Amino acid sequence: MKTLLPLTCCLAAFAAFAAPSPKQTDFVPGGRWEDNNGNHINAHGGGLLLHEGRVWWFGEHKVAGTAGNQAWVGVHCYSSPADDLVNWRDEGIALRVSKDPKSDIAEGCILERPKVIYNAKTRKFVMWFHLELKGQGYASARSGVAIADTIAGPYTFLRSGRVNPGIPAQNAPEPGSEKAKTYFRDLPGGQMARDMTLYVDTDGTAYHIYASEENSTLQIAELDDTYTKHTGRYWRAFEGRYMEAPALFKRGDTYYFIGSGCTGWAPNAARSAKAPAVAGPWTELGNPARGENDNKTFFSQSTYVLQHPTKPDTYIYCGDRWNPKNQIDSRHIWLPIQWDPEGKPYFTWYDRWSIK
Ligand code: DGJ
Repeated sequence: MKTLLPLTCCLAAFAAFAAPSPKQTDFVPGGRWEDNNGNHINAHGGGLLLHEGRVWWFGEHKVAGTAGNQAWVGVHCYSSPADDLVNWRDEGIALRVSKDPKSDIAEGCILERPKVIYNAKTRKFVMWFHLELKGQGYASARSGVAIADTIAGPYTFLRSGRVNPGIPAQNAPEPGSEKAKTYFRDLPGGQMARDMTLYVDTDGTAYHIYASEENSTLQIAELDDTYTKHTGRYWRAFEGRYMEAPALFKRGDTYYFIGSGCTGWAPNAARSAKAPAVAGPWTELGNPARGENDNKTFFSQSTYVLQHPTKPDTYIYCGDRWNPKNQIDSRHIWLPIQWDPEGKPYFTWYDRWSIK
């Protein structure tokens, strides 16, 4: 039997199809951020890259429910005009997890915090991400690398592994140091790497910054001139401070760090620090969140700090409000970074804001 849809229903469906989604003007932290198709932006633990007049947003594609903590699809990509940043176009899946159960990136693995940088020498886009092999919880603590000729991909997976096996840190701790037990344990097989970011310095040198040593200590590892491998030079920072969710940016000659404490999916008080060089030494500056609920970073965790492409002294804190029971509905918390009289970066809550 044929079912006839009522005319009003057909007209409504046509109108929805024909009408462009309304142009958004404001950031609404914690709201539903709809892309050009009306879908909440599915790019979590993400990073951003300016390329040819657009900003490209890469992040974890989550699925509904608790299985959203595993990767069933891959890395989703969106783009926005560089001077907009509130209206995002769906660019599709940049890196797809594999149907081959033997692949390092088999469906059901954990693939987190993807970041993409562009290598001018090889003309490749290079993606790094935190990878946990399927079925092993968070024990693998690997990094994965993938490359593409075009920014939105498709990216080709190259390899995954621990960092710099057999190579001591530039600022290697004293042998026998209690706080560096895990560093010494992992020296032969390579350092653990979980929450991560990438940072390309103004001289073109790229760094991989990751939570290591069972998350107790952050490490900063230099990448080679193709950005696809470590050079073997790396530094330990914030020893024993249990920091996750690293984000780096530079203002003037100073490098800044924003990150979080280490409490799983539950929010905690953010951390910040500054240094005269990416390798450090890093000096902690305290919690950069200020105001009501700052002890939970407004129920968010950092993922990136975006230097505005056309207003270079505007920096945006980009965070995730995780929803571990339904990760596809995790919300984006972007807030403008301000500077206090002591020169410390901070951000405060706004229900709604825009870049003037
Ligand atoms: C906090 C990390 O920042 C997330 O990326 C994720 O790894 C969760 N922990 C898992 O509990």
